[in-house]
Amino acid sequence: MAFRSFRNFVDELDRAGELVRVRQGADTDLVLAEWANREMKSPGGGKALLFENPLIDGADSRFPVAINTMGSRKRIAMALGVDDVADLAQEIQLILKAKPPTDLREGFALLKQGIHLLHARPKHVRDAPCQEVVSFFDPHQTSLRDLPVLKCWPKDGGRFITLPNVHTRDPESRARNVGMYRMQIYDDRTTGMHWQVHKVGARHGKTYYDRDEPMSVAVTLGGDPAYTFAATAPLPDGLDEILFAGFLRRRSVEMVKCRTVELEVPADVDFVLEGFVQPGEMRPEGPFGDHTGFYTNVEDYPVFHLKAITHRRDAIYPATIVGPPPMEDFYLGDASVRILLPVFRMNFPEIVDMTLPPEGVFHNLVFVSIRKQYAYQAFKVMHGLWGMGQMMFSKYIVVVDEDCDVHNTSDVLFRLCANTDPARDTTLIRNPSDSLDHAPTEQNIGSHMGIDATRKLPGENYHRQWPELLQMDERVQRLVDSLRGSAGAR
Ligand SMILES: Cc1cc2nc3c(=O)[nH]c(=O)nc-3n(C[C@H](O)[C@H](O)[C@H](O)COP(=O)(O)O)c2cc1C
Repeated sequence: MAFRSFRNFVDELDRAGELVRVRQGADTDLVLAEWANREMKSPGGGKALLFENPLIDGADSRFPVAINTMGSRKRIAMALGVDDVADLAQEIQLILKAKPPTDLREGFALLKQGIHLLHARPKHVRDAPCQEVVSFFDPHQTSLRDLPVLKCWPKDGGRFITLPNVHTRDPESRARNVGMYRMQIYDDRTTGMHWQVHKVGARHGKTYYDRDEPMSVAVTLGGDPAYTFAATAPLPDGLDEILFAGFLRRRSVEMVKCRTVELEVPADVDFVLEGFVQPGEMRPEGPFGDHTGFYTNVEDYPVFHLKAITHRRDAIYPATIVGPPPMEDFYLGDASVRILLPVFRMNFPEIVDMTLPPEGVFHNLVFVSIRKQYAYQAFKVMHGLWGMGQMMFSKYIVVVDEDCDVHNTSDVLFRLCANTDPARDTTLIRNPSDSLDHAPTEQNIGSHMGIDATRKLPGENYHRQWPELLQMDERVQRLVDSLRGSAGAR
């Protein structure tokens, strides 16, 4: 199901009992973030919060703030219009496996799929809710000062836009990209642009810098939550986030031309910040309380200059905070892995399941289960994953057998401790590291470790008989289930 607006999604959360409306004034300077942090740390991700009266420097904001709107398994599924994100993985699996239909039922399934894919193509419109109010910054118009942008942690270098969808185009191929890169507010017309060196925005930027041309950038906030999800998803390079969002919401994304830059944005978003990045201009950004749970130090990043702000009259400002896990971003990352699992499986058919547990804050820890057939297969999977897009950052990859539930960290640690001889079952490699990882000696490069916690096969330098894992008979299990049931035990 597609949402007509971010407000429409927030109302839906409210109807489902997933939203708390906060009517009292709450300061955007730390107070709102602390409130949201406690909610995100509640069991299962707590509720979404709509701050109806946020305060900016003690004064009322013109716009409410919604936070933690996708911070649970249920809410991320609602954001993507499904009961469970596994449904989307199944659809992707269907597309990847599509063969000519052999009967009418298969024919209909493929036809339905084809229609969904047609819906993925964006449409172009002239009138857009996101341009109801247009500001070119005369003193009475909207500027960055009017947005309820959060300061998240006490030692942050200022206020940061934390859920921006940054739209750019490659000047040569004209390929579009939408990525989520935080933006530090410098003044009412300029911000930082925190695209890290490995990200597509930075690659587009470099091409503009090489040509010595200013780079048009449009930043959108809000709209259908599918856009925000698509901007964060580590899609295979070249897969257009707007097409992907159209596929997710089963409805074409309506795109409108920006007023001052040669870019198009979804017509139903809440805010659009139009502007440019000037080749070579860098400015200190940070510190910022980051996903890692630590402050990221001040570093130089490009500067975004605003030319216009357009917005809906009834806009809601979307925000999140990051910090020590678990936070809302875990559910975004978790949904990405679950939805893109069929793509991983296409490359590595032995993969049964995979997860990035919250303690690893995305890339620090990956658990993969495989159906193992031959010696050193676990190592082949690790090396393959290290070569795939943003999986290159994975600091520890633990491979287990298919009968281990990777979503049960305790089960994975049990296998890891029981099944490994560290010298034999680990491998250390050199690879690019996540820019935010503070542990490597040099930024952006480091070592990564793979651990093979599967049972050992002949040829894997194990010269004894591998023992059998304890398991109760199924018949006895069923019997005890029914005995306990009649004894009233749960
Ligand atoms: C809440 C949130 C904030 C993020 N902030 C940044 C950021 O400031 N810089 C960055 O490079 N990546 C950031 N990311 C990760 C990127 O959005 C993610 O790697 C995305 O896939 C990048 O898109 P790209 O491959 O099109 O560059 C953030 C992710 C989330 C969920």
